[in-house]
Amino acid sequence: MHFSSTLLACTAIVSTASAGFKGFNYGAFFLNQAPKKQADFEYEFNAAKQLPGTNGQFNSARLYSMIQWQTTNTIIEAIPAAVNTKTQLLLGLWASSGQTSFNNEISALKSAISKYGKSFTDLVVGISVGSEDLYRVSPTGIQNKENPGAQPSELVKYIQQTRDAIKGTGLAGKPIGHVDTWTAYVNSSNNAVTSACDFIGVDAYPYYQTTMANSIGNANATFYDAYQQTVKAAKGKPVWVTETGWPVSGPKQNQAVASADNARIYWQDVSCSLMKKGVNLWYYTLQDAQWGNPSPSFGIKPAGDLMQVKPAFNLQC
Ligand SMILES: *[C@@H]1O[C@H](CO)[C@@H](O)[C@H](O)[C@H]1NC(C)=O
Ligand SMILES: *[C@@H]1O[C@H](CO)[C@@H](O)[C@H](O)[C@H]1NC(C)=O
Repeated sequence: MHFSSTLLACTAIVSTASAGFKGFNYGAFFLNQAPKKQADFEYEFNAAKQLPGTNGQFNSARLYSMIQWQTTNTIIEAIPAAVNTKTQLLLGLWASSGQTSFNNEISALKSAISKYGKSFTDLVVGISVGSEDLYRVSPTGIQNKENPGAQPSELVKYIQQTRDAIKGTGLAGKPIGHVDTWTAYVNSSNNAVTSACDFIGVDAYPYYQTTMANSIGNANATFYDAYQQTVKAAKGKPVWVTETGWPVSGPKQNQAVASADNARIYWQDVSCSLMKKGVNLWYYTLQDAQWGNPSPSFGIKPAGDLMQVKPAFNLQC
């Protein structure tokens, strides 16, 4: 009796807690350009699951590429790391470097399927074709010298190529989508991309929305305005929050002040409300200060040993 009631209580907690995917974004290399190795990815994935105040719920990893950094088409070592640590994966295929480079992404994806089989494919919750490619061909992206990106027609072609590549494999049936800034989705010139997707991944950072009143006090409203506009543009397709966050340090952007206290407010307001609503969330980010000194810095964990240093702010909801 005691055992079964405990079990029931646990099941109830687990099912509310797991309503949406929760995780972080994981780049392929450190700030000094050194590639992350399998041990580095495992260390980061394990550290995310051990974050105090989160009940081990941050067990999902969004990747930007299938290719190990500085190789042509070798499988990114995040894949065996995810298999070893049972970390969920939102895969990413880099789509801003042309067809030859995209062929290498597809090739690494296929190699991962044949090399790791079900232990890999069962972990995959979705596949994103591209990341902010449409932002990079927009006037703001060009002004910020973020070129090259990819045109909508190019992305539609890559999405179809990805669909063809996973046909009849362990990844068949997994949702395929695209990740971009909310401004890309509200631009109707990009509608063909939205139509080609199973899900829409949205990146939104009130901190960078410098043409608006973007103080921390307005951040929740600014974020949700961007999110709701994306939901409307998505015409019924699921919208996943693939990047959002508030910096713990860095320059003031219009009214936005980077600080751990403000990151805590943003976490409480935006991250906690998304999780409560069951919206999939990949926060930016766990730690961004390895082998470098980013400004702004969005890392929950300051520089140092991920397993040892305390989060810069309280993560409880
Ligand atoms: C709208 O999207 C098109 C195609 O991606 C792009 O060329 C154009 O610059 C975008 N406009 C704005 C205002 O972002
Ligand atoms: C943030 O906005 C969302 C959507 O309007 C709302 O559900 C949530 O309660 C807001 N949070 C705060 C702290 O205002």
